[in-house]
Amino acid sequence: MPHSHESYLDHILIDEDALQNRIAELGAEISADYARKQGIVLVCVLRGGVMFLCDLMRHINVPHAIDFLAVSSYGSGARKSTGVVRIEQDLRTNIEGRHVLIIEDIVDSGYTLAAIQRFLDVRRPASLKICTLLNKQERREIEVPMDYVGFNIGDEFVFGYGLDLDELYRNLPFIGVVKPGVELPEGF
Ligand code: IMP
Ligand code: MG
Repeated sequence: MPHSHESYLDHILIDEDALQNRIAELGAEISADYARKQGIVLVCVLRGGVMFLCDLMRHINVPHAIDFLAVSSYGSGARKSTGVVRIEQDLRTNIEGRHVLIIEDIVDSGYTLAAIQRFLDVRRPASLKICTLLNKQERREIEVPMDYVGFNIGDEFVFGYGLDLDELYRNLPFIGVVKPGVELPEGF
C-alpha cells in the first residue's frame, strides 16, 4: 500500500493560490498574443501536463483545439532523463499550417522538449511555441527556446499538480519538494 503524500513531502514549494494566479496571468498573456490567430492547437504532453492544461485553457479566450502527445524519457523509477525520448502516443490532429502551443509540466534537461519539437516541426505548423509551468534552468543540457514559463525553480525534485512520484500524487493542488533521501513509493 502506498503511503499518503505526506511521507514524501518536505515542503510546499508553490501553493495552490500562487499556481492559480500565475496560470491566470499566463492565460491572459497567451490570449493577447494569439488574439488574431486562427487554427490554434494546444498540445498537452501526457501525463504531467494534464492539470496545467485544464486550468490554463480556462483562461485562454481565443478559440482553440486541444490534443495530446505521450512521451517517455525516464526509465521507471528514475529521477533523471535518459536522453532517449520515445513517442508513445501521437496526435490525432493534422497540425500542418496550424498554430501549435506545446503545454508541458516541467523542463529539466531539455531532452524531452527538444525531441518533441523535432517531432512536430517536420509537420510544418504555422508556428510552434512552448509553454511550461516549471523550468529548472540550471539542469539544462540542451537548449530549448521557451515562450511562456510559469515558474523558475531550482534543482529539486518536485511532485504534485500533474507531476508524479512513480505515477502517484498527480492530483495534489500544489507543487511540493520531495524529502531528500526518501525512498520512492512502489508505484506502477
Ligand atoms: P527533461 O527531458 O530532462 O527535460 O525531462 C522532462 C520530463 O521529466 C518532464 O516532462 C517530467 O515528466 C520529468 N521531470 C523532470 N523533473 C521532474 C521533477 O522534479 N518531478 C517530476 N517529474 C520531473
Ligand atoms: Mg513528463
